[in-house]
Amino acid sequence: MAEAALAQENAEMMLSVNNIEVVYDEVILVLRGVSLEVPKGALVTLLGPNGAGKSTTLKAISGLLGTEDGEVTRGDVTYNGQNIANGSPDKIVRDGIFQVMEGRRIIEDMTVIENLRLGAYTRKDSASEIKADIEKVFHYFPRLKERTGLAGYLSGGEQQMLAIGRAIMSKPDMILLDEPSMGLSPLLVKEVFEIIRTLNKELGITMLLVEQNANMALKHCDYGYIMESGKIVLDGTREELLNNEDVKEFYLGGGGEERKSFKNLKSYKRRKRWL
Ligand SMILES: Nc1ncnc2c1ncn2[C@@H]1O[C@H](COP(=O)(O)OP(=O)(O)OP(=O)(O)O)[C@@H](O)[C@H]1O
Ligand SMILES: [Mg+2]
Repeated sequence: MAEAALAQENAEMMLSVNNIEVVYDEVILVLRGVSLEVPKGALVTLLGPNGAGKSTTLKAISGLLGTEDGEVTRGDVTYNGQNIANGSPDKIVRDGIFQVMEGRRIIEDMTVIENLRLGAYTRKDSASEIKADIEKVFHYFPRLKERTGLAGYLSGGEQQMLAIGRAIMSKPDMILLDEPSMGLSPLLVKEVFEIIRTLNKELGITMLLVEQNANMALKHCDYGYIMESGKIVLDGTREELLNNEDVKEFYLGGGGEERKSFKNLKSYKRRKRWL
């Protein structure tokens, strides 16, 4: 009975990162045994300070590590039952995972529609299906429809919307989002997060969201992980993390005080399973 329950649980676990170690340039050890899980249909967030290894974790999943001389040197990344660690980014996009990189990375001297078409490059669908999906993107991001000029002229928030729209064009099962709130005004951050949650719920796209804006990310996620210096130091459901005294003090405080580290907490007990 217990085995059947476990098999059922594994079947629903869309992505599982198992104790991975990542090294750049053959010597720089950045991830020191990171494990996390994303169930199908969930919105999971990965939080942590600058340099913790959040983007590296996403790149280890999407295969983009390879383009930066990075490598998963231990552990595995299981997606729908297959190990995809160190796989080619093109194949991983075709398998259904699309990463929206930090800093947006839209093509500035192309139009909005040309950028969206680029997102569909792995698809063999007909022109009319692709056109219908462009309309779908405009349904979620109506202001993009009004922008007919070059993408370089879009505001920061609109560029972020375009980057997410481009991800939708690949018809992904899962989107990896790297700091969508970066550089946006508080009002736009709120809007972008609400759209992300809507896309998760209405289109059923599973999301793994990296953020420094812990307030917003925790408000919208189902489950969260906190990472420091290449390791996961805490994880829990949205409610568990929002009610955790340490999370409140170190991540949700919002005061001018410098953020302390979980590692310096006496009360903090590192979980054996992450070691
Ligand atoms: N291509 C690379 N080559 C060598 N070192 C790298 C490379 N990319 C990242 N690093 C190093 O790995 C560590 C983790 O970087 P990463 O970009 O994953 O952090 P992050 O948590 O995303 O930080 P931020 O919040 O600032 O985006 C940093 O010390 C960084 O300098
Ligand atoms: Mg980063």
